Amino acid sequence: MSKTATISYDGNSWELPVVVGTENEAGIDISTLRASTGLITLDSGYGNTGACQSNITFIDGEQGILRYRGYPIDELAERSTFIESAYLLIFGELPTMAQAQEFSDLLTRHQFIHEDMLHHFDGFPHDAPPMAILSAMVNALGCYQPLFLQIEDDDHFAEVAARLMSKVRTIAAASYRKTIGRPINYPRSDLRYTANFLHMMFSLPYKPYEPSDAAVSALDKLLLLHADHEQNCSTSTVRMVGSAQATLHASIAAGVCALWGPLHGGANTAVIKMLQELQASGEKLESFVERVKKGDKNARLMGFGHRVYKNFDPRANIIKRACDRVLDTLGIHDPQLELAKRLEEIALKDDYFVSRKLYPNVDYYSGIIMKAIGIPVDMFTVMFAIGRLPGWIAHWREVRTGASARIDRPRQIYTGPTLRKYVDIHGRNGIVTPQKKAS
Ligand code: ACO
Repeated sequence: MSKTATISYDGNSWELPVVVGTENEAGIDISTLRASTGLITLDSGYGNTGACQSNITFIDGEQGILRYRGYPIDELAERSTFIESAYLLIFGELPTMAQAQEFSDLLTRHQFIHEDMLHHFDGFPHDAPPMAILSAMVNALGCYQPLFLQIEDDDHFAEVAARLMSKVRTIAAASYRKTIGRPINYPRSDLRYTANFLHMMFSLPYKPYEPSDAAVSALDKLLLLHADHEQNCSTSTVRMVGSAQATLHASIAAGVCALWGPLHGGANTAVIKMLQELQASGEKLESFVERVKKGDKNARLMGFGHRVYKNFDPRANIIKRACDRVLDTLGIHDPQLELAKRLEEIALKDDYFVSRKLYPNVDYYSGIIMKAIGIPVDMFTVMFAIGRLPGWIAHWREVRTGASARIDRPRQIYTGPTLRKYVDIHGRNGIVTPQKKAS
């Protein structure tokens, strides 16, 4: 029997349908609420709003569960690869041997960017933020592939997805090479996705970079763990822009910008900066934690807390283990890892964090792994973007092929001035600032 919820207001009541997902998550369908009651719902920050039905990723924040298309994240992290999981997210199923080969061939075939695109890099100042470059270049990429602005069928979509995934990695590495004033490395067809990226980042004309298995495997795992996270800020951005029937490239360029923010993907950079500052200042960790608790605007425990996970972030646990393993294998002793672990320990014993259910998130240890592999701090969020790309592509497609594809257009509760008459410029008093009021 279908479930309903009853809403009462001003002496009237209405029955609303309840939609139940495959994991028994239930949501009240309020799509007819305004038409029947005149009311809208208000949910600033969307903490309680289901913006869509989606069959891509399942999260249970209370239980610390994350699954891509039904497969648990820890199993994928242990047994799959970034590219295989990307395929799963984008196309809905794990690939057969033949499909995996076909996708891999597409990635190899499309790894180069148009030579003219290289000139775009010259237009950026040498210290331009890599996320600004990435977003601009993804949009530019769309201009070099006008045929792909309209996607016609599944084969066509597979090619567009592979092109974008492959070229974004080439763009990211090229942008790094530009910022350090070194020649851009062309991709190599004999290397797999992650190793190829490391080659483009670090090979020198006189010395090819030979990444260790430990570095490749740690980075691949990191990308896989970032590959999707249902309706987060950047993915919702991609979905919203896509809902206006904007192209895949334009929608993803917007997602890159959303990810850049320090409360989202930018947190991995912010964590390392926080640890660097703590190291440099020598401030006691307890005193830093006290400042965090007092709400000092210069002290937030970056890499802690999550809108959805209220018990633990399963990705953080896997990353913490991978972090120990890669540092061990590479023989690196990083005092920042020790610092991060001590800080975590102090926070997890403190009632402020316990009562607010604040735990390390995916960004807390990921920077330490990237640092160990040699990836510069400024590139951390770009790495996150490369990892998140399959999720963005899958969500964009879901929006565009969904049965009820409508443009996203939230409403609001207006709190500004009520109707007033236009005043001629000579008759205006100007803005009344608090200082003016006081004088
Ligand atoms: N340090 C200190 N206090 C925190 C932190 C933190 N990292 N995170 C949340 N809090 C506090 C808030 O100040 C608030 O306290 P209050 O109830 O006394 O006002 C309470 O915990 C609830 O926090 P909200 O900000 O309401 O939680 P929200 O769900 O809106 O924010 C967010 C989640 C943005 C991740 C937040 O925890 C945060 O700022 N964390 C640090 C940045 C970070 O690591 N971001 C990466 C998130 S993962 C990702 O995007 C990939």
